[in-house]
Amino acid sequence: ATTLGASAAESGRYFGAAVAGNRLSESAYANTLATEFNSVVAENAMKWDATEPNPGQFNFSGGDQIVTWAQQRGMKVRGHTLVWHAQQPGWVEGLTGNNLRNAMLNHITGVANHYEGDVFAWDVVNEAFEWDGSRRQSNLQQQLGNGWIEEAFRAADAADPGARLCYNDYGTDGINSKSTAIYNMVADFKNRGVPIDCVGFQTHLSAGDNLGTYQQNLQRFAALGVDVEITELDVGGSGSSQAATFETVTNACMAVSRCTGITVWGVTDKYSWRDDDPLLFDDNYQKKQAYTSVLNAL
Ligand code: XIL
Repeated sequence: ATTLGASAAESGRYFGAAVAGNRLSESAYANTLATEFNSVVAENAMKWDATEPNPGQFNFSGGDQIVTWAQQRGMKVRGHTLVWHAQQPGWVEGLTGNNLRNAMLNHITGVANHYEGDVFAWDVVNEAFEWDGSRRQSNLQQQLGNGWIEEAFRAADAADPGARLCYNDYGTDGINSKSTAIYNMVADFKNRGVPIDCVGFQTHLSAGDNLGTYQQNLQRFAALGVDVEITELDVGGSGSSQAATFETVTNACMAVSRCTGITVWGVTDKYSWRDDDPLLFDDNYQKKQAYTSVLNAL
């Protein structure tokens, strides 16, 4: 096939992009997104600060705009993210104990209920581990203790039993202390029947990064009985080295049957959150060498 989405679909996978709703009015942005991709994720619009600016008062306007736009074009929607230490609204930051617990559970229930049937997967919990495999000492961890991740997944499952429920993180691009700690958590969840369906590998990279155990890492998670997804792929750099790194990641996903799809973290370098041109289309929406490598690998 001649587009990323259609090529991914040939093997039953999706190829998505992170989207900022305020860019959809730019025709080149919208055309590239609609033509090349078959899945979207909101870059910011479904995060806690955006969806619940005041306690118990939900604002779904930004997320709904993206969902409606995608559905009108037959595209899938990933949900990102229900609980994260970053981009929390100010009112959450000072909460303690059961006030924070109830806020977290109420938030998950409110957002996951609203998007039930619209999102195929949720990043229920984002970035809860440190490089050394310890838990990040976020307000959630410090106030609620180790059980908060399990509590979050159980609440998400109750609110939207049909969505795939994922744990999502970065720096998990191989077998290392961080990915092993997450692996152990997922194994424990599967053993005890805690609802988890998938693990997201953000995959924020630089050209030439060592990916020697990338595929093996995806495979060991899949062997636990969860799907794996490449959720925020971008690769700083240019030319053939950038293209080769994108190709390695794509090949790894294609080689792991439970790798269900790839999302790149933006459409065009022009609007990337990074300043090192990490995406598949340049500032003028021209296909880069990395684009061709990914298309050929799908
Ligand atoms: C980033 C967005 O791209 C930026 O627009 C925002 O200012 C900060 O967040 N890991 C994640 C994403 O899970 O939500 C982050 O997105 C990038 C790192």
